[in-house]
Amino acid sequence: GRPDGASALEALLAADERVEPRDEMPDGYRRTLVRQIAQHAHSEIIGMQPEANWISRAPSLRRKAILMAKVQDEAGHGLYLYAAAETLGVDRADLLDQLHTGRQKYSSIFNYPTLTWADVGAIGWLVDGAAITNQVPLCRCSYGPYARAMVRICKEESFHQRQGFDLLLALTRGTERQRAMAQDAVDRWWYPSLAMFGPPDAESTHGTQSAAWGIKRFSNDELRQRFVDMTVPQAEVLGVRIPDPDLRWNAERGHHDFTQPDYAELLRVINGAGPCNAQRMAHRRRAHEDGAWVREAATAYAARHATGGSG
Ligand code: ACO
Repeated sequence: GRPDGASALEALLAADERVEPRDEMPDGYRRTLVRQIAQHAHSEIIGMQPEANWISRAPSLRRKAILMAKVQDEAGHGLYLYAAAETLGVDRADLLDQLHTGRQKYSSIFNYPTLTWADVGAIGWLVDGAAITNQVPLCRCSYGPYARAMVRICKEESFHQRQGFDLLLALTRGTERQRAMAQDAVDRWWYPSLAMFGPPDAESTHGTQSAAWGIKRFSNDELRQRFVDMTVPQAEVLGVRIPDPDLRWNAERGHHDFTQPDYAELLRVINGAGPCNAQRMAHRRRAHEDGAWVREAATAYAARHATGGSG
C-alpha cells in the first residue's frame, strides 16, 4: 500500500534525498517547517528596519548605495522564504496576518536599536555573520524548497557580512572617535548576536525533533560555538575587543570558552519586551496598510489577465 507520511519521510531521510511539496509528510514535519520558514521570512522583512534607519544618513554616496542594495536584498530574502512556505500549503497573507497579530515570531535581534553608523557595520559583521553560520547548514535541510532558497540567500548574506567587516575596518583605521564608535557598537551587539542562535540545547523545544527530521543539521549550541570560533580571529584583524573577559582559547576542547548570553533577556525580547519590539511591529503594520492599494491593484490586474480581458 501507499506509505504513510512518516515512513515516506524516513525513507527519503535515510537516502539523504530532499522532501518535495508533493511528497507525503507527517503533519508535525509540515507544521515545524511552516513555523521556522515563516519566522525566518518575518525576520528578513523586519530586519530591514534597523538598517534602513541609516540610509538617509550614510556618510558617503558609496556607502549609501551599498546599504540600499543590502536592505533590498533582505526584502528579496523575505520573498524567497514566503514562497518556500507557500509550497507547504499556507497562504502568505495569512502568515503576515499571524506576524501582525503576534501569533508568529521574528528574530530577537531586530528588537535592538541602531544608535550610530557603526551599528550598521556591527550588524553586517556580527548579525549577518551569525545568520550565515546558522543558514549555511540549512542549505542541506531536508525540505527541498527551503534548502534551495537558502543557497541564494547565503551567497547574499556573505556579501552583507563582508560589507559590515569593511565598514568597521574603515572606522577602526580612522580617528580615535571612530575607533571608539566601532568598539561601542561591538560591545552592544555581541551578546544579542550570540542569543540569535536560540536557547541552549537543553532548553530548545524543537531541537531534537528538528535534527531527527533533517531540518536542523547542527544544534543551537554547536552553531553558537562555531560562530565564536570564526569571529575571534576577525576581531583581531579589526582591532576590536570582544566584550567578554572570560573569552579564551581552550586547547583541550579545540574551541574558545566564552560567556553565554543572558537567556532570560532572550526570552523577554522574544515575548515582546525588547527595546524596539513595539516600534518594529507598529512600523510593519503601518507599512502593510500603506501597501494595501498595491496588493489590490495587483489582484485586479491578475484577475483581468485570467479572464482574458484587457485591451
Ligand atoms: N528569536 C526569536 N525566537 C527565537 C529565537 C530568536 N533568536 N531563538 C529561538 N526562538 C524561539 C523558537 O522559535 C521557539 O519558539 P516557538 O516554539 O514558539 O516557535 C523557542 O524560541 C525555542 O527555541 P528552539 O526550540 O531552539 O527553536 P528552533 O528549533 O526553531 O531553533 C532557530 C531556533 C535556530 C532560530 C531556528 O528556528 C532557525 O534556524 N531558524 C532559521 C534562521 C532564522 O530564522 N534566522 C532569522 C534571523 S537571521 C536574519 O534574518 C539576518
